[in-house]
Amino acid sequence: MKNFIFQNPTKLVFGKGEIARLNELIPQSVNLMVTFGGGSVTKNGVYDQVKAALKGRNFIEFWGIEPNPHVETLRKAIELGKSNNIDYLLAVGGGSVLDGTKLVAAGIASDEDAWDIVLKGFAERQIPFSSVLTVPATGSEMNGGAVITRAETREKFAFGGNYPHFSILDPEVTYSLSSHQIACGLADAYTHVLEQYLTTPGQSRLMDRWAEGILLSIIEIAPQIKENPHNYDLMADYMLAATLALNDFIRMGVTQDWATHQIGHELTALHGITHGHTLAIVMPGTMRVLKDQKEGKLLQYGERVFGITEGTVEERVEKAIEKTEAFYRSLGLTTRLSEEKVGNETIEIIANRFNTRGVAFGENRNVTGDVARKILHACL
Ligand code: NZQ
Ligand code: ZN
Repeated sequence: MKNFIFQNPTKLVFGKGEIARLNELIPQSVNLMVTFGGGSVTKNGVYDQVKAALKGRNFIEFWGIEPNPHVETLRKAIELGKSNNIDYLLAVGGGSVLDGTKLVAAGIASDEDAWDIVLKGFAERQIPFSSVLTVPATGSEMNGGAVITRAETREKFAFGGNYPHFSILDPEVTYSLSSHQIACGLADAYTHVLEQYLTTPGQSRLMDRWAEGILLSIIEIAPQIKENPHNYDLMADYMLAATLALNDFIRMGVTQDWATHQIGHELTALHGITHGHTLAIVMPGTMRVLKDQKEGKLLQYGERVFGITEGTVEERVEKAIEKTEAFYRSLGLTTRLSEEKVGNETIEIIANRFNTRGVAFGENRNVTGDVARKILHACL
C-alpha cells in the first residue's frame, strides 16, 4: 500500500425529506446565492422544497448552468456573486450544477479568470458551498473535483480542491430522472470504481473488497431499477453507491487509472455524448488494449464480480471484458463509437490533442495520444 493522506470534510445528509434541514445546515450569517440548472427542479418539486426550507431568508438565485457546465456561463454567475457580495453558495442539481458551482466558489474568491483556474488544475481559494444533489452519478457531492467545458474551443478539463460543506441526498428526487439519465448515472458510478480498482493487484485487500462490493451492488440493482425506478430502497442504494464510488474512500493507498475518463471527456466535448455513455463506449476498449498490463486485476475482477473461474488466462480475461461490455449494454447504452457515428476523424483529433498536450494517463502513465488512438480503434 502506498502512503496517503485522507481527509473528506463533506457532511452527508441522506434520506427522505432531508431538504427541509437546509435552514439549520446553512449558517445564518451568510450572504447566500443558490445555483440551478435548466429547470428540472421546478417540475419535480425540488425547487419548492428548497424555497420552503429557506423561507424567511434573503438569497439570490442563478439559473442556467447547463449539462457539462460552460465556463462562459459560470463567468456570469461569478460576476453576479461578486456584485452582490455573496459569501456562500448552495448548488441544487446534478453533477453539472455542482461542478459549475465549485468553479463559481473559486472564481468569487479570486481575481483570476475562471478558465485560468481550471487550467491551473486547482483552486487556491474558494468561498464555502453546499449542495442538494438531484442526479446520482458523479460523486461531486462528496469530492473535490469538477469538470468544466469551454464551449468556444470544445475543450473539457477537470480541476480539484473544492469539497462541499454538506450535501443533501434525498433518493425521492431521482424519481423524475429519465431511463437514459439513470443508465448514464449507473455507468458513471460503475466506471469510477473500475478507474480506481482495475490497475495492479495486491495493493490493498481492503480497497479491493470495497470496490468489488460497490460493483456487485450496482450489477444487482441495475436491472431492478429498470423495472421499478420509484422503489425508494433501490434508489437509495443507487444514490449511495454513486457517492461511495468517488468520494476518496476506495482509493486509499492504491494506484488509479482515469484514462477512460480523459478520453470520454473528449468525446463529450467534440460530440456532446453524455458523460456516463462515453465511459460505456471507452472502458471496454481500454481493457482490451491494456489487457496485458491489467491481466492480474482482470482475472480477480472476472472471478469475484462475474464468477469466471474456468478457461485459460486469456479466455478468462476476454470473458471479463465481454461481461463488462454486456453490463453496459444491459443498461440500455450503446458501447461502440460506430453506433454513435463517430469515426477516424474524431479519433485523430483526440490522439493529436493528447500528443500536443504531452499528456500520458493511466496507472503506468503510458496512455499517450498514440495509445488513446489504439483504444479508440478498439471501440469502433
Ligand atoms: O439542467 P436541468 O434542467 O436541471 O436538467 C438536468 C440535465 O439536463 C437533468 N436533471 C437533473 N436532475 C434531474 C434531472 N432531470 C430529471 N430529474 C432530476 N432529478 O439531468 C441532466 C443532466 O444533468 P447533469 O448534472 O449534467 O448530470 P450528471 O450528474 O451526470 O453530471 C455530469 C457532469 O459531471 C461531470 C461530467 O463530466 C459532466 O460534466 N463529472 C464530474 C465529476 C466530479 N465532479 O467528480 C466526475 C465525473 O467523472 C464526471 O466527469
Ligand atoms: Zn465519471
